[in-house]
Amino acid sequence: MRKPLIAGNWKMHKTVKESIEFALEFKERIGDVNDRDVVIAPPFVSLFPMFDILKDSNVKLSAQNMYFEEQGAFTGEISPIMVEESGCKFVILGHSERRHIFGETDEIINKKVLSAVSHRLIPILCVGETLEDRENRRTFDIVGEQLARGLYGINFSADFVVAYEPVWAIGTGRTATPEIAEEVHGYLRNKITEIFGKDKGDNVRILYGGSVKPENVEGLMAMENIDGALVGGASLKVDSFEKIIKFGRQ
Ligand code: 13P
Repeated sequence: MRKPLIAGNWKMHKTVKESIEFALEFKERIGDVNDRDVVIAPPFVSLFPMFDILKDSNVKLSAQNMYFEEQGAFTGEISPIMVEESGCKFVILGHSERRHIFGETDEIINKKVLSAVSHRLIPILCVGETLEDRENRRTFDIVGEQLARGLYGINFSADFVVAYEPVWAIGTGRTATPEIAEEVHGYLRNKITEIFGKDKGDNVRILYGGSVKPENVEGLMAMENIDGALVGGASLKVDSFEKIIKFGRQ
């Protein structure tokens, strides 16, 4: 049985003050949630103060990115040691905004994945096709390649999470239907089984991301290979994020 995981990716939203306010209220609201993992990925500057508030709660923290080196002359970057020290258990890597706006390649993302794992961080590796890829029937080729290249050389016993985020569904209000998402999730799981064996294939959690809202979470979570959600916009409000986290309870 894979434990569901709901993660909020705040992207470049919320000041430290706003993050603290959110954390204080949120912690109370979801205090009774134990049958699923809850993760928030705030901006770097909010990690430490949020950890202070959430350390004795059931909410875990994630970074949205990191560099692969431990230290050095890399102006503007954050190392895995810093991420870990800030209280993070997870780190999102290869988000489509990192790939498309900041030019991250599969090779760079792979270095980050390996570095995260060697620092006891659980990478949430994001993969996803553009609308053009989908229209050209290249979805499976693209996500399969991103997955295999991103995880290349990773220790077989390492813990990791995969997030399928079709680029055309991010921030657009256009969600993949549960059936479309499930088709890709099934493909990704088969690919993980091919590379890492059945045990890993059965146990790795594959999240869906792209316009997840309280209104569509139930349908997505009903799918066999959808084990959770990576939520952008709807994770910024306590109300909507709480509803998503508590799917299946209403
Ligand atoms: P939205 O939920 O705002 O579409 O963002 C999805 C996402 O990119 C999460 O990482």
